[in-house]
Amino acid sequence: MEVIIAQNAQEIAVIAADLIERQLLHKPNSVLGLATGSTPVGTYRELIRRHKEKGLDFSKVTTFNLDEYVGLPPTHSQSYRYFMEENLFKHINVPPANIHVPYGHADSVLDFCAWYEEEIKRAGGIDLQILGIGRDGHIAFNEPGSSLGSRTRLKTLTEETIKDNARFFQSMDEVPRFAITMGVGTILEARKILLLASGEQKAQIIAEAIEGPITSQVTASALQLHRDVVVIVDEAAGARLKRADYYRWVYNQKRRLIPTLLGQSN
Ligand code: PGA
Repeated sequence: MEVIIAQNAQEIAVIAADLIERQLLHKPNSVLGLATGSTPVGTYRELIRRHKEKGLDFSKVTTFNLDEYVGLPPTHSQSYRYFMEENLFKHINVPPANIHVPYGHADSVLDFCAWYEEEIKRAGGIDLQILGIGRDGHIAFNEPGSSLGSRTRLKTLTEETIKDNARFFQSMDEVPRFAITMGVGTILEARKILLLASGEQKAQIIAEAIEGPITSQVTASALQLHRDVVVIVDEAAGARLKRADYYRWVYNQKRRLIPTLLGQSN
């Protein structure tokens, strides 16, 4: 794992956008795995800026989102489909036909999940997956206890996640209880993974996920098994990392000696 400790959320966005831009330059028809939540918004803003100002091209890109609430139509202001339209898709030139967000109103969730897995395979697999992390250690909606081999499926949200997400709804009662989510196993098949976290409320779980044991109780810890993960945190989210000095040392050495190696994992 390569751990980059950025000054603040703005710097996370720039470093993450650099890595995504490099991916698109290297492979214009990349398959991107995308996340919702407040964390990636700055990165999406930076990508939009680069698209508008420098012509960063998404015309050959295919996207797969990690998850979606069950029961919210795509037009609902709190659906993840709507979030992605507002925060990214409508501002860039990714063809609508190439966009995939799990459909929370599927007649058969089981069939839908199998189809979603197949679509990812048909697209050639995910080249670069962006992830946030929940305070309970979830990646996508893989709540504690999720199998580390899990695939796209229906998941019941924890009370903590429902509380955390209630800030976007009128009341806690309105927060859906279920979601369709890629599994940990699905995520681990991405060729490269970018985990982003900012703010002190993520400090404890970031330390557990990166430096703690691999356990289904903290599904983000499964990323330790992946051979190409870049974790970008700000000072606040990285505050409990025991080996923070080493991560800074590695980053500075790479930046000084071999800038092109940045973002290529240890
Ligand atoms: P956040 O959510 O980016 O809004 O903190 C992250 C997550 O729950 O995965």
